This record gives sequence, C-alpha cells and structure tokens, in this order.
Amino acid sequence: MTDEILIAELQSAIDRELHDGLDQLLQDYPAEYQSMLHYQLGWVGENSGLEAQGKRIRPLLVLLAAHACGVDWHKALPAAAAVELVHNFSLIHDDIQDCSQTRRGRETVWVKWGEAQAINAGDAMLTTAQLSLFRLQANLGPTIINQAVKLLQEACLKLTRGQYLDIAFEDQNDLPMELYWQMVEGKTGALLAACLGLGSLIGQAKESEWQGLMDFGSKIGAAFQVQDDWLGIWGNAEQTGKSTISDLVAKKKTYPVLLGIQNQKAFYDVWRSQVTVTSQEAEKLAKLLEVEGVAQKTSQKFEELYADAFDLLESLHLDADHVAPLVQAIRGLFGRSK
Ligand code: IPE
Ligand code: IPE
Ligand code: MG
Ligand code: MG
Repeated sequence: MTDEILIAELQSAIDRELHDGLDQLLQDYPAEYQSMLHYQLGWVGENSGLEAQGKRIRPLLVLLAAHACGVDWHKALPAAAAVELVHNFSLIHDDIQDCSQTRRGRETVWVKWGEAQAINAGDAMLTTAQLSLFRLQANLGPTIINQAVKLLQEACLKLTRGQYLDIAFEDQNDLPMELYWQMVEGKTGALLAACLGLGSLIGQAKESEWQGLMDFGSKIGAAFQVQDDWLGIWGNAEQTGKSTISDLVAKKKTYPVLLGIQNQKAFYDVWRSQVTVTSQEAEKLAKLLEVEGVAQKTSQKFEELYADAFDLLESLHLDADHVAPLVQAIRGLFGRSK
C-alpha cells in the first residue's frame, strides 16, 4: 500500500470514529445542540464537506506516530478523535476570542448561534474529547489510559496558557521574540506535541523515543504556526477560508509583525502610531511588510523550522518503513495554501 492510500484510509477511519464517538455520547441530546458540533466538524450546514472539515492533521499524526512505532494504528483511533475534538474546541473559542467571523470558508459558530451558545458548544467539544479517550479501553489497559488522559489534559492546560499570552499581547506594541515562542509553544505546540506523544504512548515507544517524538511535535507546532501567521497575511482567503486582515486589525503579535517591528522602518512607524487598525490600514501594513522583505523572511523561517524538526526525527532512528508515512504527511504541509 502506498503512503497516500494509507493516509486516505486513516482519514476515513478518523471521520468514522468521530461520528461513532459523538453519536454514542450525545444520542439523547437536542438536535440543535448536536448540529452546532456537527457544523463545526464540517458535516452539516452550507458548504459542508471536506473543505469545511479542515485538514485533520492532528488525528492523522496520532495514528501515524503509533504506526511509526510499529503498532496497529486502529488501536489509537479514540486518541485521534480526541485530539481533533480538542482542536475544534480551541477553534470555536479562539474565533470568539479573536472576533473571527470566518473559518474554513464558513461563518464561525459564534456568528451563527451567538457567543453564549458557541462557548457552550466549545465546552461540549472539550468534554467529548476527554470522554473519547475512554474508548481506548477496547484495546488498552488502565495504565496507558491514565497516562493518555493526563497527557491530553496537560496539553489543554498549556494551550490555554498560550491563548492567554496571545490575547494579553494584543495590548502591547512590541514583544521580545522569546515571548512569541512561548506563546506558540502553548497555543499550537502543546497539542501537536500531544498528538505525537499519544500515538507513541499507544505505540509503546521507549521513553527516549517518546520524548523525542513529543519534541518533534512541538517543533512542528512552531513551524506550523509561523506558516499560519504567513497565511494569515499573504494567504488567499478563498483557500485558507480565513480573513487575511483580522490578525493585523486585532494587533496580533504574529511572527511577521515582530520582524516588521525589528526592522524599524516604515511599517514600524505606521504600526506604533496606531492604537487601532482599520481594514484599509491593515492592507497598507501588509504591503509595507512585504516591501521590507518580511514575507520572504517569514517563509524562510518556517522552512527552517520544518527542517530542524526533521533533523530531530531522523536522530531518533525509527524504522524507516514505519516512519515513512509520518514524514510524508508532514511534507504535505510544507507548501500548504490553507
Ligand atoms: C488552525 O489549525 C489553528 C492553528 C493552530 C494555527 P489548522 O490549520 O490545523 O486548522 P484546520 O483544522 O485545518 O481548519
Ligand atoms: C491558533 O490560533 C491556536 C488555537 C486556535 C488554539 P490562531 O488564532 O493563531 O489561529 P487561526 O488563524 O485563527 O486559525
Ligand atoms: Mg487566536
Ligand atoms: Mg484565531
């Protein structure tokens, strides 16, 4: 079987596991309640389908990490579903926190149902995520399940720390790069590290391999977020399904913005003179960043980070055949346009 066919098979198994898990937990719940979760997962509503489901990279990494350790990936399916539910919890809440009206090319849950219901839908997603892990009981014993629960809960806690920093930094004009990396490690790296950690825990990896794969996940998280920051300004909104001005309007301390501040040129002069940024000003700021070479430096940075992550993965000397689909899946992110 080629790596592409395996990845396609995993994606449909993930979708089934998400459906089965939620159906089991929510069978007597009001239809409207269920439809908010189903909408966020891309199953219902206008333009439902693959685009609306998102890339599903996190659950894929859980299964591919288990596979990389030489274990049957089916065993890890409940953990795969759990991380995708945590991710969607974080997106529902993040869209409220960032006042984002569009996600995956559709209205965000809070725009459709109001903030109060969206907060509750996010809470539901987080809780179903944690409960999903108990479906591991079909194949695994209580010691591993306890470790898995702890690992995921710790990642969720770190994610809220990252979100705290992201929001707190909106009110600052400048930010040391070190704090940017701290924020990213929390908001994005923690869950990606947990994906590799859960997969290799279930894969019964040796302690050193397990730690190495967690570190690999965290590095992928950094690369992924710098790339998200790039796409958040220079991406094609039709393809990303997200706004290309909202990060600048919200004065987010993204990687390109921090480089622009460091440059101390025209971008910096405009940026520091404005307490609030309108949509038109955001477009002007994006142009200035590009003229100052920031777009190019940002893409260079995430490429470097992906390369560092691969060096780390290689240093673990996992079985080449088993690790190949994991490498393939992450290579697929390099030139992503969404
Ligand atoms: C978006 O994640 C949020 C970040 C951590 C940057 P993805 O880009 O994985 O979102 P979907 O699930 O594919 O929409
Ligand atoms: C990414 O947040 C991390 C989480 C959602 C926890 P961002 O705010 O940077 O990501 P997008 O661009 O809205 O997806
Ligand atoms: Mg955010
Ligand atoms: Mg956001």
